[in-house]
This record gives sequence, C-alpha cells and structure tokens, in this order.
Amino acid sequence: MTQEPLSSGRHAGRVAIVTGAGSGIGRAVAELLLREGGTVVAADLSDDRLGWCRGTERVVPASVDVADAGANDALVSLAVDTFGGLDAVVLNAGIAMSGSIETLPIEEFERAVDVNVKAVALGIRASAPALRERGGGSIAITASTSGQRGDPGMWAYNATKAAVINLARSAALDLGAEDIRVNVVCPGPTHTGMTERLQELPAAYEALRRRTARQQWATADEVAAVFGFLVSAESGAVTGAVINADGGISANTGQFLPPERSA
Ligand SMILES: NC(=O)c1ccc[n+]([C@@H]2O[C@H](COP(=O)([O-])OP(=O)(O)OC[C@H]3O[C@@H](n4cnc5c(N)ncnc54)[C@H](O)[C@@H]3O)[C@@H](O)[C@H]2O)c1
Repeated sequence: MTQEPLSSGRHAGRVAIVTGAGSGIGRAVAELLLREGGTVVAADLSDDRLGWCRGTERVVPASVDVADAGANDALVSLAVDTFGGLDAVVLNAGIAMSGSIETLPIEEFERAVDVNVKAVALGIRASAPALRERGGGSIAITASTSGQRGDPGMWAYNATKAAVINLARSAALDLGAEDIRVNVVCPGPTHTGMTERLQELPAAYEALRRRTARQQWATADEVAAVFGFLVSAESGAVTGAVINADGGISANTGQFLPPERSA
C-alpha cells in the first residue's frame, strides 16, 4: 500500500516515525506533523490507544514494544514501504515508576532501562540507514527535567532519563557529518496520561505548578510544538541540543517559589 504525501505545509513530503503516539506528547506530535502536511508511522504498545489513527489520512498505526530490536526495524520498513522513505524520528515512548532506592523492585528498573534508554538506542540504530538514504534527517528524543536532577522516590526514572540525554549527544556526534541530527526535549510537568494520577493529588499537582516560572503545567500540544520545530528543516543548525520545555521549572534551584500569577 502506498499513500501520497501532501504538497503544502511545514512537514509536507516528510515521513516520520513517532513512538508513544497513542497518548500524551507522542499523540500531540503525530497530530501536529499530520496537520502540517507530514506522513506518520504512529507506534505504541497499546493498540487501543492508536484508535485515533483510524479514519485519519497519511498515518499508519503500529502496535509494538519499542524495547524490542525487531520492532524498531519493522517500524522503519513500514515507513519506507508505505511512504517511500524516512526523514524524522521522534523517540518518545517512555515509562515512569516510583519507589525508593531500597524498595523499588530491580525488575522495574530493568524495564525502565529497556524502554527509556535501550529502545532509544535501537530506534536510532534502526532508522539511521533510512535517514542516510534520504541525505539526512532529524531524530528527536523525549527525556525529562527529571534527567537533569534528582526527584525523591524516582531514582530509576531519573537515572534512565539522564542516560538518554548523553546517549543523544554522542549519537549527534556520530551521525552529524551525514546531516542526521539528534536532539533532546526535556518536558516538565505536562498534562498527559503519565501524570493522570498526579493530577488527581491536589498537593502534588500544586507543588509542581508552584515551582514552574509560569505557574502552570504544560499541555501536550505546547511540548509537541518544540518537536515540530526540531524535526522540520527549519532547525538545520540544531543538533546535540537539550531543550527544556518545562515552564521554567529547571531554572529554579527549588529554594524559593516564584511569584504567583495575578488573578
Ligand atoms: N507528562 C509529563 O509530565 C512528562 C514530563 C517529562 C517527560 N515526559 C516523557 O514524555 C514521554 C511521553 O510521555 P507522556 O507524558 O506523553 O505519557 P503517556 O503515558 O500519555 O504516553 C506514553 C505512551 O508511550 C507508550 N509506551 C510505553 N511503553 C511503550 C513501549 N515499550 N513501546 C511502545 N509504546 C510504549 C504508552 O502506551 C503511552 O501511550 C515519556 O518519555 C515521558 O517520560 C513526560
């Protein structure tokens, strides 16, 4: 099956893979790329969450576990066979867990390493040949402000998100001379499926909100806009970069709360 690309829009004629596209930031990125003329392979562990793709043009859903090497190869083949090539890859699927350094089952840490770090390495490795074939391309990875500092009870998440930041920098250096760019986006508190439970805990929700400069959680669409730039041709000079889309929470030492919004 082949599908024709749109001829206008910032992403017209460009083919992307987006992982974690069933929900939250990944879905918002996939929808942005589609709105702006792109074509998308939308990957997620959950087939149900990919239901939004049905009846939508220029998107092919793929339910896969990105921690599996064969799945990453299959996503690239799907992009090339369906749309004729690959220009952009958004490695966004991720999982979070909580538990202290003494009590979190080590299997949960291992799964976090598999999904948050190994899957990103596999995704870059699988997609590089297809991007090279097009004369270059752009890879953008979702890390987190939690990859830049620690959070109590979140060591496994903190460790894996820190690892993926440096993985991306090294990959940018390995692939840069072939015009394959690799960048990282670090969201802060964002309204998505991952934070659903946190959003229902008023004290935790409020504590995070108050630590941002703008006194506000982000929407998935606001974070997706950064990916839209990074995987477009507009960001040609940007590679090996770590871009915070966190409402300024990482600018804060955490010692003082910024001024509240006026009503
Ligand atoms: N929401 C936040 O506040 C926040 C902050 C910083 C970073 N992040 C990061 O943003 C990324 C997207 O998360 P989100 O907030 O949109 O959460 P989300 O839970 O809404 O979406 C994540 C999606 O990834 C999918 N997924 C999980 N494991 C997978 C696997 N092994 N294979 C394929 N798909 C898989 C899930 O099914 C889900 O649909 C994650 O990497 C997360 O760590 C989120």
